[in-house]
Amino acid sequence: MPLLAVRNLKTYFRVRAGWVKAVDGVNLNLDEGETIGLVGESGCGKTTLAYSITQLLPSNAHVFGGQIIFDMEGHATPYRPAYWNMAEARAAPDLQKAKAELETVQSAPETKEATPRLEELRRKVDALENPLSETYRTYLAPEIQALERTVRDLTMKFETGDKASRRALAEAKNRLAAATQNGDLVDITRRPDGRLREYHPKLNAVRWKQISIVFQGAMNALNPVYTVGRQIIETIRTHEDVGPEAARTRVEELYRLVGIPADRIDNFPHEYSGGMKQRAMIAMALALSPRLVIADEPTTALDVITASKIMDEILRIQKDLHMALIIISHDVSVVAKVADRIAVMYAGKIVEEGPSAKIFSRTIHPYTEGLLSAFPSVVGERRRLVSIPGNPPSLLSPPNACRFHPRCQYAKDICSTVDPPEVTPEPGHRGLCHFVDEFYARGGLFRG
Ligand SMILES: Nc1ncnc2c1ncn2[C@@H]1O[C@H](COP(=O)(O)OP(=O)(O)OP(=O)(O)O)[C@@H](O)[C@H]1O
Ligand code: SF4
Ligand SMILES: [Mg+2]
Repeated sequence: MPLLAVRNLKTYFRVRAGWVKAVDGVNLNLDEGETIGLVGESGCGKTTLAYSITQLLPSNAHVFGGQIIFDMEGHATPYRPAYWNMAEARAAPDLQKAKAELETVQSAPETKEATPRLEELRRKVDALENPLSETYRTYLAPEIQALERTVRDLTMKFETGDKASRRALAEAKNRLAAATQNGDLVDITRRPDGRLREYHPKLNAVRWKQISIVFQGAMNALNPVYTVGRQIIETIRTHEDVGPEAARTRVEELYRLVGIPADRIDNFPHEYSGGMKQRAMIAMALALSPRLVIADEPTTALDVITASKIMDEILRIQKDLHMALIIISHDVSVVAKVADRIAVMYAGKIVEEGPSAKIFSRTIHPYTEGLLSAFPSVVGERRRLVSIPGNPPSLLSPPNACRFHPRCQYAKDICSTVDPPEVTPEPGHRGLCHFVDEFYARGGLFRG
């Protein structure tokens, strides 16, 4: 059952020189209990995507468009696509009109620089190309009103004894939830100017209790002046109405789960080894039994053996607790072992996503090929490592069209002039490249 749907998300950072387009049109779906690995070079936007999902973004972050639908019950999920399609079809003529007008205004000889009309049109095109929940609601107003009426009528019928209306009422409520874009975390926290609210009671009910994060560099996130146990107990008691004894018992269980002896609960962080601190942070993330855990580079600062043990622990816990997991790493061999699916990110975009085995056996994006060639083989045979030429681009002014074209060995003229399409050559496996079908037809790019 789908738990999370990130749709066309755009999270940019305001800096003096302009906008850093850290997450730029990302789509990602996650099912309940599923593990997805998010990989890519340093600076490609992995942490920004994680912070967008948990809505822990810094104050210079703006969400320009998109949705993050966290649908805990999943009842509205089957109805959502029809409403998205309906709203997008209705918005299409407005988008065409705004684009045409923008072109006319832009090409007028007197428009040398930004005029208020030009800015307004740019904003309009942007808003229609990257719809937020409020945009969908605008175009779905008639359906929303009709569904509200239906829910009211059926509720009355049901309450006056017509038990047969129960099913119809449940369906109408779920349709209404889908049409009103219920469950969108961006909708809850985004201010009209794109900045984010730091606090919202609805979001606080989700953050930590439903979605938690093991921060990148988490080992250094513990407060040195309190014992580790006290910090986890306080996390539990901040969010749940439990007494100190019950909270402590839960911490003992969590310690068993992550493999720290229970007699270490009252130690201070400096008395823990690096691996133990990392395990404690994982225990903290699990403390409220969330449905989704995001682990951002959970093992990067550890030696290979400890890292491998912790990865095994994470996987075991994930299976036992049946939670969904997003594991972030710049090292594809780390996530390959544990993830059901892998999403490869480059310069703010997901360029390939698919089942882990398919990413290796039938690679459809040149960047993934480069990434896989740059890491030691997961299955252990020796081969020559090849690094990707060049450096990742600045996200302040990324390359035109395909952002990978300056580094891509397969690049043709079209790659620097036309945005690459998202192509799905087989169900569940997609790539953002002009030549996905060609690469797929030849059996994939990577030869490990
Ligand atoms: N608060 C901020 N203000 C401006 N730019 C930022 C901010 N935070 C991150 N960035 C920029 O956004 C881009 C994405 O950063 P992010 O931390 O998401 O990358 P990452 O993939 O997690 O990298 P790493 O593997 O090094 O952790 C980078 O170019 C980074 O410099
Ligand atoms: S679109 Fe072109 S430049 Fe981009 S990855 Fe594909 S082949 Fe390479
Ligand atoms: Mg990061």
